[in-house]
Amino acid sequence: MSRRLVVLLSGRGSNLGALIEQVHLHPGVAAEIVGVVSSRRDAVGLERAAAANLYTRAIDHRDFPDRESFDAALARAILPLAPDRLILAGFMRILTNAFVERFSPSILNVHPSLLPDFRGLDTHRRALMRGDAYAGASIHVVTPDLDAGPVIARVRVPIRKADTPESLAERVLAAEHLLFPEVLRWDAAGRLVLEREQVLLDHRALPATGIDLRVDREELVPC
Ligand code: GRF
Repeated sequence: MSRRLVVLLSGRGSNLGALIEQVHLHPGVAAEIVGVVSSRRDAVGLERAAAANLYTRAIDHRDFPDRESFDAALARAILPLAPDRLILAGFMRILTNAFVERFSPSILNVHPSLLPDFRGLDTHRRALMRGDAYAGASIHVVTPDLDAGPVIARVRVPIRKADTPESLAERVLAAEHLLFPEVLRWDAAGRLVLEREQVLLDHRALPATGIDLRVDREELVPC
């Protein structure tokens, strides 16, 4: 059975592009994107989705007085699509506990840091300020606490001396474009069991920081 993915986004949707190419259109992967829902009607990601003939909806958060009513409308848009997984790919709204509980533990997010470091915003600037040797990105199960659910996998990106937050963000984003599809391929192959407290890969519980990978010649390899 093919996994039904609904992608939630708010902006440019480059991760969506990677998922379309490497998961949705890939004949060997038993997963399909059955809808793309944006929290902004002007998100470039919606155009990307439409160009790939995907079903799109915009539920603009600015049309709602509070998080609860926005999340209720979001859930109403999503439920008819009968998703197996909600994929947060640059979705810039904090979800209410009620929404998370409803779809838990099937919501996955990509976060641009090596979690548990640098939850929240401005991750690259914070990694540079601390003088870290590595930055990176993490795919994790979403729980009510922001960026705190169990991590499935992380990709490490070496920080260079001359890096600015922008140059680092560019390399981390390229690594995200490999990492998210990889995790969804594991999932499509039935290798992952998602739980609120932990994730199993091939029947084994993963450490709290997931599997560590790095990029070598545009491919992910173990660290
Ligand atoms: C990425 O940096 C991702 O880590 C963060 O939001 C950004 C989304 O980029 N959660 P895009 O919209 O997929 O291009």
